[in-house]
Amino acid sequence: MSIDLDGNGFLREVGMQEFGVAWGGWQVCAVKSLTAAARALRTHAFPVGVLMSTLDGIEEIDSFLHQHWATQWVGVFPPRVLQTTACRRLVRDHCYDYHTLPVDAVRLQHTLGHAYGYATLRDMAESPLSEMEHADMQLKGHGAAIGRLREQILKVANASAPVLIWGESGSGKELTAQAIHAHSIRAAGPFVPINCGAIPASLAQSELFGHEKGAFTGATRDKQGLIESAAGGTVFLDEIGDLPLSLQTNLLRFLQEKTIYRVGATHSTVVDVRVIAASHVNLLHAVQQGSFREDLYYRLNVLALDVPPLRERKEDLMLLANHFFATYIAERAPRVKGFSSAAAQAIREHAWPGNVRELINRVRRAMVMAEGKLIVPRDLGLTASGKAGQSAALGGSRLRADREAVQASLANAGSNISQAARDLGVSRMTLYRLMKKLDIEG
Ligand SMILES: Nc1ncnc2c1ncn2[C@@H]1O[C@H](COP(=O)(O)OP(=O)(O)OP(=O)(O)O)[C@@H](O)[C@H]1O
Ligand SMILES: [Mg+2]
Repeated sequence: MSIDLDGNGFLREVGMQEFGVAWGGWQVCAVKSLTAAARALRTHAFPVGVLMSTLDGIEEIDSFLHQHWATQWVGVFPPRVLQTTACRRLVRDHCYDYHTLPVDAVRLQHTLGHAYGYATLRDMAESPLSEMEHADMQLKGHGAAIGRLREQILKVANASAPVLIWGESGSGKELTAQAIHAHSIRAAGPFVPINCGAIPASLAQSELFGHEKGAFTGATRDKQGLIESAAGGTVFLDEIGDLPLSLQTNLLRFLQEKTIYRVGATHSTVVDVRVIAASHVNLLHAVQQGSFREDLYYRLNVLALDVPPLRERKEDLMLLANHFFATYIAERAPRVKGFSSAAAQAIREHAWPGNVRELINRVRRAMVMAEGKLIVPRDLGLTASGKAGQSAALGGSRLRADREAVQASLANAGSNISQAARDLGVSRMTLYRLMKKLDIEG
């Protein structure tokens, strides 16, 4: 794609016009405005773009390039424009490379070739959008484990029995519950999540089941409980193991009779709500220890789903990392373009005790911390060998993390300095400097 914003005849100058749309082997889509460019980019993912501009309306250009970060942009500017801070910032944040006018067509061809090669390399890494068949499910992943989970979700969605979801912290229990609700005939009804561990025991009864006016001091009017507020839909009882024993009895009665008693009420109310519960602790142990009612356990455990921990879904790691990267790119530094292969390796090697939530946090942190165009292990708070760099701010461990990241990139690149530098998102000179400082031989 080529954008000539000021109509300065850039195409003619480099000889593109002589070849019509095919220029030096390139299929060129030439446009004269950002609107036209955006329209073209909606239907076709151009790997490489040339932007010729004197940078009038730089904010609009900045936001355009920000949105279309997946294309490798090569800027072409008059020399005086390139002197400006605004232009330099634009180049730093968004451009693969830049040229000044008058353009040397041969050099430009070379740059475009490199940019194209680079775009292809990035595409090879992972394709985050290759799961259209489950576009309606927010649970991302293409591995066998998540595939099984999706199948189970679809199976239990249309049953009416309670569901018990087990999974480690941050593994996606709530998302699984939402997916069950969304695929059930109750989808149009409310989905009400309740964290059983977060409600104070003294208020829990009234929060869950509601109360009548005058039931206790301060109960100045009738109040609907959370379960009633989910009528026609689904209630999600998160951390069900934390539910006080007295409430377990009430919940069991509700599951058996489909009716609830508001606190202070003399009559019961019929409520049509499906219950999905989740726990990160083994409820059977809680039953054995007497902190969880056995009858409630069996009542809830009719349909049980396991959300596998992230370390058992290694094949999904980069897809998820890229997915969160794309999700948060809009609010973060636009110059960060993705993950280096050392970062991808560190992500694969890390054990992810905090599961998907930890991955989200580390990706967001990396997008803020990254100094180069690509995220390196240190930005993620991981070392190149995948162990969490617990005190990355301390000089010694930071040096160690740097050394591991540089060594891993060099090893990945077969000691090719240019490739390793690209991978780390730094210039070759910076990489040489780093190698000298870190005592690494090329
Ligand atoms: N497969 C997935 N695809 C996309 N996002 C996911 C996936 N699994 C989890 N997430 C996201 O990770 C975060 C944690 O997921 P969720 O809240 O469902 O986990 P949880 O098991 O309920 O965690 P906790 O035990 O901390 O309550 C959420 O932001 C969720 O959207
Ligand atoms: Mg949760």
